[in-house]
Amino acid sequence: MRPLSLLQIALALATGTSAATPLSSISQALTQTESIRAVKDVTSTFAHLSQSHSYPAMASLFTTTGTLHWANLSYTGAPAITSFLSTFQSTTPGPNSLDTFILATPLINLSPDGVTAKGRYNGWRFQGDGKGGTLLQGGIFENEYRLAGKEWKIERMRAYPLYEGEYKDGWSNFRGQNFGAVPAFHYTPDEAGMPVLPGPAGKVVEEEGGSWEGVRRRVQVLNDEDEVKNLQHAWGYYLDRRMWDDVEDLFGDGSKWGGVFTVDGVGSWTGVGGVRKGLEKWMGPKGLSRGVLNEHLIFNTMVSVGEPGPNGETLADSRGIEIALIGDSAKNKAEWRIGYFQNSFIKRDGTWQFLNVTIAPLAVANYSKGWGNGSLLPNTTTTPRLLSPSRSAPTTVASTNSTATDSEITELQRRQKRSAAYDGAENIINAYGFYIDYIDGAGCFNMSAIHHTNGHKESPFTGFYQTQKRVLDACTASYGTASQATRSSISFHWRPQPVILISSDGRSASVRARLLQPATAKGAGSAQIRGGMYHDQVVLDSAGIWRLWSITIDEFYWNSGRWSTGWGGVEPRAPNASNPGPRDLTRQFPPDLILTEMGERERGFQGGTGRFTAWPDIQKMWFMYRNPVSGRVPETSARVEDGEVRVGGAANGAGEGG
Ligand SMILES: *[C@@H]1O[C@H](CO)[C@@H](O)[C@H](O)[C@H]1NC(C)=O
Ligand SMILES: *[C@@H]1O[C@H](CO)[C@@H](O)[C@H](O)[C@H]1NC(C)=O
Ligand SMILES: *[C@@H]1O[C@H](CO)[C@@H](O)[C@H](O)[C@H]1NC(C)=O
Ligand SMILES: *[C@@H]1O[C@H](CO)[C@@H](O)[C@H](O)[C@H]1NC(C)=O
Ligand SMILES: *[C@@H]1O[C@H](CO)[C@@H](O)[C@H](O)[C@H]1NC(C)=O
Ligand SMILES: *[C@@H]1O[C@H](CO)[C@@H](O)[C@H](O)[C@H]1NC(C)=O
Ligand SMILES: *[C@@H]1O[C@H](CO)[C@@H](O)[C@H](O)[C@H]1NC(C)=O
Ligand SMILES: *[C@@H]1O[C@H](CO)[C@@H](O)[C@H](O)[C@H]1NC(C)=O
Repeated sequence: MRPLSLLQIALALATGTSAATPLSSISQALTQTESIRAVKDVTSTFAHLSQSHSYPAMASLFTTTGTLHWANLSYTGAPAITSFLSTFQSTTPGPNSLDTFILATPLINLSPDGVTAKGRYNGWRFQGDGKGGTLLQGGIFENEYRLAGKEWKIERMRAYPLYEGEYKDGWSNFRGQNFGAVPAFHYTPDEAGMPVLPGPAGKVVEEEGGSWEGVRRRVQVLNDEDEVKNLQHAWGYYLDRRMWDDVEDLFGDGSKWGGVFTVDGVGSWTGVGGVRKGLEKWMGPKGLSRGVLNEHLIFNTMVSVGEPGPNGETLADSRGIEIALIGDSAKNKAEWRIGYFQNSFIKRDGTWQFLNVTIAPLAVANYSKGWGNGSLLPNTTTTPRLLSPSRSAPTTVASTNSTATDSEITELQRRQKRSAAYDGAENIINAYGFYIDYIDGAGCFNMSAIHHTNGHKESPFTGFYQTQKRVLDACTASYGTASQATRSSISFHWRPQPVILISSDGRSASVRARLLQPATAKGAGSAQIRGGMYHDQVVLDSAGIWRLWSITIDEFYWNSGRWSTGWGGVEPRAPNASNPGPRDLTRQFPPDLILTEMGERERGFQGGTGRFTAWPDIQKMWFMYRNPVSGRVPETSARVEDGEVRVGGAANGAGEGG
C-alpha cells in the first residue's frame, strides 16, 4: 500500500465530521501552505521595516496583546514595543544611521486548527546611530503567531540574545557569560518535518471552501513564488563567484534588450550588454582571483506574484536584505555593503526570468572604520516599497467556474503538494542547523533523528555515514553521550538563501543552502564569520514526515579572519604549509565513504584529495543544478539535480556526492 502522505493524513482528519469534497480538501491544504508563508512574510516584513526605522509599523505587526521578550525583559503592546525597538535609534532614519534587523532560517509549525503557529529563527541586528555609535547583536528567536481576522500577526517574539558588541571590537558572548542550556525548541525532531502539525483540523481549515477557479489561481501563485524565490537566491550564489555569464542568463533575453541593473547612488545600466557593464562596475570582472571576496548574503526574501496579463505574461517582485562582504586581501581591502534589493521578474513562455534589479546600499563602509559615522556612498534615493503578499489576492477570485475534470484535479493536487514540499524542505534543513549549533552527546539523538533511516550525511573533513544509526554513532564517537552543561564559545550554523528544487510528485527535493557561521566567544575581538555550502536531499518518509536523505557539506569557502583586520587581513597559507589532513574520526569510527575516495569532488577540501585550499586562495565552487533560466550546465557540477530522489535503491548509496 502506498504510504499516507501528510496531506492525506490531514485530510483524513479534516473529514472527521463531513465528507470533504476534492475541492474543499485541496483548498484546505492550500490554506495551510498559505498560512505558513504568511507567517514567514510577516516576519520578513518586520525585518524590512527596520531598514527604514519604521518602529511603529514593526510594532503594528504584533497582536494587540503581543509581547516582545528580549532576554529577561518584556514589552507588551505597540507603544512599549516601539519604544524598545528605538532605544538605540531615532525613529526617523538619520542620513547616516543604519538599522538592519534580520530574522533568517525559519522553522515553522502551524497548529492543526490553523489559527496559531510557532517559528524558530536566527537573528542579527546591525545598528549605527550616525554619530559614531554602533551596536551588533545576534541570537535565536522563538516566535508565536496568531491568525487575527484574515491576517497573521506576531503574538510573541522571544529573543534569546547570545552575542553582542560595538563595531570596534565586534560581538562577543552576551553579557560576557558562558552559554547555558539551548534556547528551548518549540518542536520535536519529528515535528521539525511536519510544517502542519497533525491533529483535528479546526473550523478555520474546515470551512475553507472556494471554487476551482480560485484553487487554480492559488496553486499557480504558490508554484510561481517557489520559482521566483529560487531565481532570487540562485542570483546571489552567482554573484558570490562573479559568474557573470550565469547572471546575464537569468535575465533571459532581457540582458540583450531591456534588463535593468541599478545600484542606487551609483548608476543604472540597461540595453545590450548593459547588465554586464553594471555588474563589472559595481563588483569587478568575471571570476575570482586569489584574495577576492564578493559574498552577497541574502536574507528575508519576500516574493509577490501579480495577476497574469492578457498574453499570459506574469510579473512578480522580490524584496529582501543583502549584507555583502567585499574585498581583496591581496590589496588589504575590505568593505561592508549593507542594504536591500527590490527586483522584478517576468514569466515568459512559462519560464521566470529577471526583468530588473535594484540594489540600494544603505551602508557602504570601509571595514577598518565600520558604519558608525554613516555610508561612503551618497544617500540612497529609492524609497523601498513594502510588498503585499500575492496570496491576499486569490481569496477575491470570483466563484464563477467551479468545475474541474478528474485529471485536472489530480494535477492540481500534485502541484499543491510541490509547494507544500518547499516549506517542508526549508523546515528540515534548518532543523539540522539549529541542532548542530549546540551539538553534544545528548544532542546527537535529535540531530540524527531528523535523518531518514537509510539516509546519509557527511561529517566534515571525514566522510559519509549511511543510515540514521550510523549518523548517530559517528556523532557519539565525536561527542560522547553526555550533555555539555556550559559552553564558552559557539559557532552557529545558519542555512539561509535556499534554492529548493522539488520533484514532480512533491515527495522529495534537492536543496542548496549557505552555511553561514557567525562564531562567538568570550572577549573582545573574538567574533568571526565563515562561509560554506550545503547540498541536501530531503524526502517525505513513509509516515509523511520530512527527513534529510543526504547532506554534503563544502566548507569553508571563506572566512572573515580576525575581527580587528577582517577579511582584508587574511594571509594565504604558506606554500610549504602541510595539509591539515582528515579528522581523527576517520580512524576512530571509519566512514562508509572516506572523502579521499571521492577524487575530484573533494579536491582542496580538508580531508579530501590534493592540496588543502584555504581562502584567500579560491576553492572550486560546486553547483548541483543548471542555470534556472538558460539551462547552462555549471562548470563544476558533480551531478545535475532536479529534485527527484530515489529512496531505497542502490543508486542512492553514499557515493552520491562524488
Ligand atoms: C535582567 O538581567 C540583568 C543581568 O542579569 C539584571 O541586571 C536585570 O536586573 C534583569 N532585569 C530584570 C527586569 O529582571
Ligand atoms: C565618528 O565621527 C566622530 C566625529 O567626527 C569621530 O570622533 C569618531 O572617531 C568617528 N568614529 C568612527 C568609528 O569613525
Ligand atoms: C531533544 O528533543 C527533545 C524533544 O524535543 C527535547 O525534549 C530535548 O531537550 C532535546 N535534547 C537536546 C539535547 O537537545
Ligand atoms: C580603509 O581605510 C584604511 C585606513 O584608513 C585605508 O588604509 C584603506 O585604504 C581603506 N580601504 C578602502 C577600501 O577604502
Ligand atoms: C522594474 O520593472 C517593473 C515591472 O515592469 C517596473 O514597475 C519598475 O518600474 C521597474 N523598475 C526599474 C528600476 O526599472
Ligand atoms: C544626505 O541627506 C541629508 C539630508 O537628508 C543631508 O543632510 C546630507 O548631507 C546627505 N549626505 C550626502 C552624502 O549626500
Ligand atoms: C471551467 O474551467 C475549465 C478548466 O479551465 C474549463 O475547461 C471549462 O470550460 C470552464 N467552464 C466554464 C463554464 O467556463
Ligand atoms: C616554510 O618556509 C618558511 C620560509 O622559508 C620557513 O621559515 C618555515 O619554517 C617553513 N615551514 C615549514 C612547515 O616547513
